[in-house]
Amino acid sequence: MHTIIEFDTDRLRLRQWCMADREPFALLNANRKDMEYFPSLLDRAASDALSDYCQSLIQEKGWGFWAVEIRENQEFIGFVGLNSPSYTLPFSPCIEIGWRLAYQHWGKGYATEAAKGALQVGFEKLDLPDIVSFTAVMNHRSRAVMERLKMRKDASTFEHPKVPVGNKLREHYLYRLSQEQWLTHTKA
Ligand SMILES: CC(C)(COP(=O)(O)OP(=O)(O)OC[C@H]1O[C@@H](n2cnc3c(N)ncnc32)[C@H](O)[C@@H]1OP(=O)(O)O)[C@@H](O)C(=O)NCCC(=O)NCCS
Repeated sequence: MHTIIEFDTDRLRLRQWCMADREPFALLNANRKDMEYFPSLLDRAASDALSDYCQSLIQEKGWGFWAVEIRENQEFIGFVGLNSPSYTLPFSPCIEIGWRLAYQHWGKGYATEAAKGALQVGFEKLDLPDIVSFTAVMNHRSRAVMERLKMRKDASTFEHPKVPVGNKLREHYLYRLSQEQWLTHTKA
């Protein structure tokens, strides 16, 4: 077990999950707008299982998909963080950065702000050489976050192995950022 990493950005706190997160997280995972680019919505049991899984990985490694709350009022708004995918991808092994925020909190810059904090932890604390991110080709909002983070898109797409063949969400873009690129951007 490692020391648990938790941190603040200007407006947000990225922290370990707690029981009070379960209800707002279940609402998010049952919302069609939030889950538009996922093959299915999550019911309460599946949502609780996902929050337990995120919590157990942070407990075990010290980092992961952190619960995100607004510092001003402690409202839980979703997750942002780093993850080692448990399944094989065409570019495995890898550490990904990912995000899922409640719809009512989109359009405020929260995902990008939290993700910059997570990249800083990944590159400057965990000393990761590379971080990737991937999303369905049609998920423009998620791609926009990757581009705001100055991640670089691979020329070709890939088929996500967890999305059924024939599903329109199967084709994904892959973005990458190296530690060297991160350090260059942040010092510039
Ligand atoms: C992907 C997702 C996290 C993006 O959230 P987002 O709020 O669009 O992204 P950001 O946090 O970068 O916010 C950027 C927007 O906030 C605006 N903004 C407002 N105030 C801001 C501020 N103080 N600072 C920065 N941006 C601000 C920007 O202008 C931009 O607006 P635009 O969308 O009209 O261009 C969100 O859509 C989501 O959770 N989707 C569902 C889950 C999902 O698809 N996850 C990805 C799976 S791979």
